[in-house]
Amino acid sequence: MDSIIIRGDRPLVGTVEASGAKNAALPLLAAGILADGPMVYHRIPHLRDITTMMTLLANQGADVSMDDQGRVRVDTSASHLPEAPYELVKTMRASALVLGPLLARFGHARVSLPGGCAIGARPMDMHLKGLEAMGASIHVDQGYVVAKTTGRLQGARIVFDKVTVTGTENLMMAATMAEGDTVLENAAREPEVVNLAQSLMAMGADIEGEGSGYIRIRGMERLNGAEVSVIADRIETATYLAAGLITGGDVTVKHVDAGMLDAFLARVAEAGANVEVGDGWVRCSASERLRGVNVQTSPHPGFPTDIQAQFMALMCTASGSSVISETIFENRFMHVQELRRLGANIVLNGSTAVVDGIDFLSGAPVMATDLRASASLVLAGLAATGETTISRVYHIDRGYERIEEKLRALGASIERITPNPELFRSSRLATN
Ligand code: EPZ
Repeated sequence: MDSIIIRGDRPLVGTVEASGAKNAALPLLAAGILADGPMVYHRIPHLRDITTMMTLLANQGADVSMDDQGRVRVDTSASHLPEAPYELVKTMRASALVLGPLLARFGHARVSLPGGCAIGARPMDMHLKGLEAMGASIHVDQGYVVAKTTGRLQGARIVFDKVTVTGTENLMMAATMAEGDTVLENAAREPEVVNLAQSLMAMGADIEGEGSGYIRIRGMERLNGAEVSVIADRIETATYLAAGLITGGDVTVKHVDAGMLDAFLARVAEAGANVEVGDGWVRCSASERLRGVNVQTSPHPGFPTDIQAQFMALMCTASGSSVISETIFENRFMHVQELRRLGANIVLNGSTAVVDGIDFLSGAPVMATDLRASASLVLAGLAATGETTISRVYHIDRGYERIEEKLRALGASIERITPNPELFRSSRLATN
């Protein structure tokens, strides 16, 4: 397993380009199942999760390819196996996003339950209840969701008990080919949901209200292939802006709509950062030490849970204290014990963390546990004096495209270490 070594305490300065958003690209690729012609995608990021989704579609019989300009082409006209096997789903729970489209297209589907995850139980009961409300019969058999409909799915009025991003996306996709109208209430308002809705409309879907909590979808008999673009990754953008702030630097991220980051930018400005926003770019710098501010995660347009760990790293060296409340996932503080290894002063109390800022972090070996926790360890390592080694960086590769390259371009001293299997074998023999 690869590790990353960072020699910290250097200000990061410069400009990086945001990649396409992982959490927009995944549902957009799944929507290709609904198209009766080829889909062409611009700005699909090169990430492990994306490769997993492409493999999933190819396993179903789709033709998936990438041209030399990085455009991805998906043609599912030959798809014939409406399944998502455990071997793939266990590595990426967002594979569940194929369930709604498969059911709408084929009338039956067999999708592995994702199983547990580091940050929480992450059930998909709301996905399944919504599909049952649309006429699907669903049961679980040997860890697989087995769903089928007689004829087309039926439009329905679905009120989510709590906001679910992929639940909204799964049911919105299913509804585009249902008979009649579907209404989703208490729907997710994330920019990635809007990107999906707009792409579905480019395919011929009839959708209103995307971006609000109330979405109406009028079902169609068929959807066409289309050429669509993935929006910029707002979580990646916030991560690089935080890298500039935590090192006392000055970072600009381009090709991103800063309006997707209002809650994050408001908090860092409250903490004393200089924030500049332009047409397609955003810049953050810190002329003095940041102040501790309080944050509570909530569904968009609130403060994103996917930035909570990165923001906590930022608060570790702020002046004063910060109270960070995680309201979306029940176990999203796995980064705390690792940050403490770098000297951070954090006290946990259930879903709340109290961070007392210290003058500086000190480098140490730490372990990544999940995607965004890994990002917070990279940020802390960039700020820490000395050397920080982060193990299990495969977590990072799931959501950050070319992270070493982008950070090096900003002045970071960072390198990836791939263990030599021979050395590993000999050392193991030596210990036997
Ligand atoms: C999406 O996950 C994102 N993933 C997550 O990003 C993100 O953290 C999350 O939304 C919240 O913004 C993708 O878009 C691929 P939810 P999702 O359904 O849809 C509970 C990352 O780091 N819930 O909005 O799985 C759930 O347990 C990832 O990029 C149910 O109880 O999250 C959670 O407490 C991590 N039943 C809350 O709702 C359900 O049927 C919100 O989850 C569905 C969800």
